[in-house]
Amino acid sequence: MTHHAHQHEHHAHRHDGGHTHRGEAGLADLLDLDAEVFAPHLDDLITWVDEHTTATPGTIADVGSGTGTGTLALARRFEAARIVAVDQSPAMLDRLRDAARARGLTDRVRTVEADLDDAWPPIGSVDLAWAAASLHHVEDPDRLLRDLHGALAPGGLLVVVEMDTLPRFLPHDIGFGRPGLEERYHEEVARDGWNAYPNWGSHLERAGFEVVQERDFAFEAHPAPPSANRYARDYLGRVRSALADRLGADDLAALDRLLRDEAPESVLNRAELTVRRARTAWAARRP
Ligand SMILES: C[S@@+](CC[C@H](N)C(=O)[O-])C[C@H]1O[C@@H](n2cnc3c(N)ncnc32)[C@H](O)[C@@H]1O
Repeated sequence: MTHHAHQHEHHAHRHDGGHTHRGEAGLADLLDLDAEVFAPHLDDLITWVDEHTTATPGTIADVGSGTGTGTLALARRFEAARIVAVDQSPAMLDRLRDAARARGLTDRVRTVEADLDDAWPPIGSVDLAWAAASLHHVEDPDRLLRDLHGALAPGGLLVVVEMDTLPRFLPHDIGFGRPGLEERYHEEVARDGWNAYPNWGSHLERAGFEVVQERDFAFEAHPAPPSANRYARDYLGRVRSALADRLGADDLAALDRLLRDEAPESVLNRAELTVRRARTAWAARRP
């Protein structure tokens, strides 16, 4: 398994998710589409979390919850648990509360707006903490890990999840005359520091955790569900605007063809999309 270099972390903080490029509503849409397309993938992960919990968790914290993909999946799995979703974004938390209401979960799901760069908010003792695609956003992840260690009850479990590879949609031979479009734009966004994170194992140990297991989860949806087309369109649109000055003219032209919604060859209309992605997860216990 390869881990991305960490030197671009600050960069990643600003670019990954595109807070500055497209605004939070756009990111919230993308997170929801992601949840839809990768629902079976998330279920595998939550099953794995379940296998590592020694007692039924009473309180679960979703660290950097976004629109609540993890919150809702955890609430479904752990039917007796109360879930506290922590995020700095009021817009994300609004959407999360709407989703919880729609599923009849308001009595078990609570949101807390907090900037994790300041401190872990005082929400009381936690039995299970889940941090998905969020730890690498924080300026001082080691401080947050120490805070989480303090917040967890003895024997409590922290699960850290990162996207090992960014999602992939396109067949290799696409590129309209120059195959390998997706490999090339992935290389560029990696150079830009998107989604850069270290192997969190040693960080977890330094914060006092015992790493119970590190595991890779790979997932491929073929045929992809219908929402994958919208997901691919949103995602490639972000790539197109982030890399406008960096990709070659032929690659930009190829992306434009894929993003022309009315064209049969566009990602919105293609029937043969495959969605692939991999995540790495660490399960760590507070002794
Ligand atoms: C890529 S999203 C992941 C969301 C969610 N965990 C998921 O898996 O869909 C990262 C989230 O971390 C939040 N975040 C980033 N930095 C933060 C900070 N300093 N304090 C609180 N939340 C933060 C963002 O607002 C965003 O919702």
